[in-house]
Amino acid sequence: MELSIRLKSIINLMDSCSSIVDVGTDHGYIPIYAVKNGICKTAIASDINSGPLKKAEKNIVNEELKDKIYCRKGGGLSTVSVDEVEALIIAGMGGNLIRDILLEDIEKVKRYEYIILQPAQNPEVLREFLYKNSFEVIDEDICIDEGKFYELFKVKYIEDVKDESKEDTDYEISPYLIKKKHPLILDYIEYKILYYEKIKNYILEDTEAARERKNSVQCILNRLEELRKCLLKS
Ligand SMILES: C[S@@+](CC[C@H](N)C(=O)[O-])C[C@H]1O[C@@H](n2cnc3c(N)ncnc32)[C@H](O)[C@@H]1O
Repeated sequence: MELSIRLKSIINLMDSCSSIVDVGTDHGYIPIYAVKNGICKTAIASDINSGPLKKAEKNIVNEELKDKIYCRKGGGLSTVSVDEVEALIIAGMGGNLIRDILLEDIEKVKRYEYIILQPAQNPEVLREFLYKNSFEVIDEDICIDEGKFYELFKVKYIEDVKDESKEDTDYEISPYLIKKKHPLILDYIEYKILYYEKIKNYILEDTEAARERKNSVQCILNRLEELRKCLLKS
């Protein structure tokens, strides 16, 4: 089984542990790879929809891992009990949905050894939530797969690690990745500049709300340009 670059980047952040839950597992590739390669002994492959779960089940049976990977149907973390697994993986959903899944079951979330999150959209929403709500960043990463950037967060809940010092624009680009001089960070900033330029050009109305929206996009663009210049100088 050959994993995509995006899924490999999740595996690269995983520490050995006894068990994981993969919420929104779909094909089940993450639990299959993790168990097959001894990263964890057992796993729960969980999904809200029957179709994806059937796909996962088929792949798990094909790999002869039915006694080590358990398929469960349900939304978010409703399929696992407190302390049933050591680590949580959620990938391929929007940042808003991932945030809501964490919030819905925060008491379970607080106890995981580590949590790996890879939003498919709106990573900035998730970053703001994590930084402001007592999640310690263990690591962050970015990868590019089939021309699309994906951000990754490896975090752990630690009481009182709230970071309220950031500006709204700081959630767009990870301060952690800038400090780490991630090899893709400049490309990512340039990609975001083009993205927000496009959004700005789409705002054509001349209403108060449109002017406000344009101003906030311009603030993000100014910050991104500032970061770009700093990185080019360093
Ligand atoms: C795009 S797939 C991502 C699959 C895999 N995690 C990956 O990254 O390749 C999203 C999966 O999340 C499932 N999903 C959506 N909302 C969910 C929720 N609230 N709880 C659990 N699973 C959910 C969908 O059924 C779908 O299988």
